[in-house]
Amino acid sequence: MSVLKMSIVTKSLVLILIGQLLPAAVLAGGPDTTGTDSEQELAAATLLPFKQKLKKTLVTEISSGGPLAALNACNLEASDIAVAASTQSVRVGRTSHKLRNPANAPADWMQPLLAKWQANPAEAAPVLLDVNGVTAYAEPILTGELCLVCHGSAEQIPEAVQARLDVLYPDDAATGFSAGELRGMFWAEFTPAVTEAAAQ
Ligand code: HEC
Repeated sequence: MSVLKMSIVTKSLVLILIGQLLPAAVLAGGPDTTGTDSEQELAAATLLPFKQKLKKTLVTEISSGGPLAALNACNLEASDIAVAASTQSVRVGRTSHKLRNPANAPADWMQPLLAKWQANPAEAAPVLLDVNGVTAYAEPILTGELCLVCHGSAEQIPEAVQARLDVLYPDDAATGFSAGELRGMFWAEFTPAVTEAAAQ
């Protein structure tokens, strides 16, 4: 990896760490929202350790082993981290309009939100929805500088990383992002039994 890329990675780490000190995005309710504040809080609280574990894994691996080690770690651990962060009442995950791992494909209810957020990422905000009687929650994921080493342009992705991506994800659509663009969404779905209990 070039010295320039290394310094971009280091700067990005600092930005990410600063980002974590800022309060979580204000939980906004729009006209299409539903459910109670406590459901929204529970969904956001369930997502939090998932987000933290993903970021911690990424940052630790990039700083100790570089982007290739981090890529291997994301490949091996991301889905386990999602399963471990899910509870009996709330299932969590990540998806995108431009997928790397086809197993992260968006459910029907996620697609219009992704399209809306993609058109206007600066306005994207967490939302609680009623999906056929089941409560669902989503938070936008914007692309940060740190992400570009694996999700940016051909010039930003080191050759060794691109070569590994080609092997692991032959249909990878998750490159070519710029900082500030929508990368995807964190989602949470309540199990139907919990949604029914909350309604009573
Ligand atoms: C070291 C390489 C690497 C970096 C850096 C990286 N990612 Fe990824 N990303 C991956 C890999 C590998 C996957 C596929 C993981 C899986 O199998 O779920 C992935 C998947 C995702 C997904 C799930 C949707 C999909 O396309 O499968 C999202 C969302 C995502 N990354 C966002 C980000 C964001 C935001 C950042 C910056 C904070 C980031 N990534 C940084 C390698 C990386």
